Amino acid sequence: MSDKEPAIKPWGGRFSEATDQFVERFTASVSFDQRLYHHDINGSLAHAAMLAKVGVLSEDELKQIQTGLEEIRSEIEAGEFNWSVSLEDVHMNIEARLTDKIGITGKKLHTGRSRNDQVATDIRLYLRDEIGSICSEITRLQQGLVALARREADTIMPGFTHLQTAQPVSFGHHMLAWNEMLERDFGRLQDCAARLNQSPLGAAALAGTTYPIDREYSAQLLGFDRPTENSLDSVSDRDFAIEFAAAGSLIMTHLSRFSEELVLWTSAQFNFIDLPDRFCTGSSIMPQKKNPDVPELIRGKVGRVNGHLISLLTLMKSQPLAYNKDNQEDKEPLFDVIDTLKDSLKAYADMVPAITVNADVTREAAMRGFSTATDLADYLVRKGLPFRDAHEVVGKSVAYGIAQSKDLSEMSLEELQQFSADIADDVFDVLTLEGSINARNHIGGTAPAQVRAAADRAETRLQQR
Ligand code: ARG
Repeated sequence: MSDKEPAIKPWGGRFSEATDQFVERFTASVSFDQRLYHHDINGSLAHAAMLAKVGVLSEDELKQIQTGLEEIRSEIEAGEFNWSVSLEDVHMNIEARLTDKIGITGKKLHTGRSRNDQVATDIRLYLRDEIGSICSEITRLQQGLVALARREADTIMPGFTHLQTAQPVSFGHHMLAWNEMLERDFGRLQDCAARLNQSPLGAAALAGTTYPIDREYSAQLLGFDRPTENSLDSVSDRDFAIEFAAAGSLIMTHLSRFSEELVLWTSAQFNFIDLPDRFCTGSSIMPQKKNPDVPELIRGKVGRVNGHLISLLTLMKSQPLAYNKDNQEDKEPLFDVIDTLKDSLKAYADMVPAITVNADVTREAAMRGFSTATDLADYLVRKGLPFRDAHEVVGKSVAYGIAQSKDLSEMSLEELQQFSADIADDVFDVLTLEGSINARNHIGGTAPAQVRAAADRAETRLQQR
């Protein structure tokens, strides 16, 4: 076909001139929506089966369509499919190829359907599968965290508030905090998948169709829970994509928090952990460098996901019912959120089991920051002092410790008694790091026994998924 001849469009009947070449490229989505081909074909197969069931297609026509669509799927998978920009999108490319292959019957597939309910179906099917893969990666990462928590339940590190040493905690307890964030992230994705699992097929362009369709049947063939309730809503809203992106933003926010800690902890100043070389890179000028690129990159990637969430919210805002071409803009942000989540979660799930903890260093760091000061205050309260007075006594002991470069546990009984006559020999039980963490022995507390029990519960939940 030469450039001057009008392209033959499936919708070209009422047009008297060819689409402007720039407009053709500008309005086409095939370069990115071809990714939906597998789900588009599945949606078409279900639609065709439904049309045959209600007698709109004959059994022979259904067979031809099924064979043709499966051949097209193979052509695409073999990289032999010729995608055409003049056919706009994945839907019309596949339909045109079907008609090429099986002739007039191919043209019957679109009976009782529109690209509007077709694309709304495709994205739901596609996203439902991708949520499944993302949730598997979250589970794999959580398994790694729980195993690491168990391994390091007795390892003591400083717990921080304001990034200042606060109280000693178990390293395992810290890992289980990350695990809880991911537990909620998993739940949010499950909620999103459950809400989107309704079939828009049959909504057609916006108002439904005059054919005697069986929406329950096509919904069931595609594994949807039920058909959507309202045709106008079905073809227009992309709230499920927004909801997914919002859940994605939270996942990336959590990963950025983990990343920040890994970057800090691998620095020479902290030296709490080591990441294996295979997750790091070097510097082209400074031979000594081992950079934690993977967590750094993931910390940075939260930006694009948050950006995509805002894109999706903004493209939906103020759209009148029903379908508008604006919605074609939903795909690139959605796809990039999916890709970013899958890659970032894979990196984490691979990396976490390979973390090694420098337990001497984390212990030493917990020693250095007067992390058992609260334990001394609690001790004095048990001896009968009001908490505020105990706080004052301990504050003075800490000031003394700073001046003498001594931790509370390194002071003699006489030194401690300068600040309160209530302090006796048994004080050293609470001033040690082990004494401090073991004393927080309740659900959600940092005592190693509690960390192990929490890891058991976490593992049971993971097994029940
Ligand atoms: N490529 C379109 C999209 O992604 C498919 C639906 C087109 N519908 C239409 N009436 N032009 O939204």
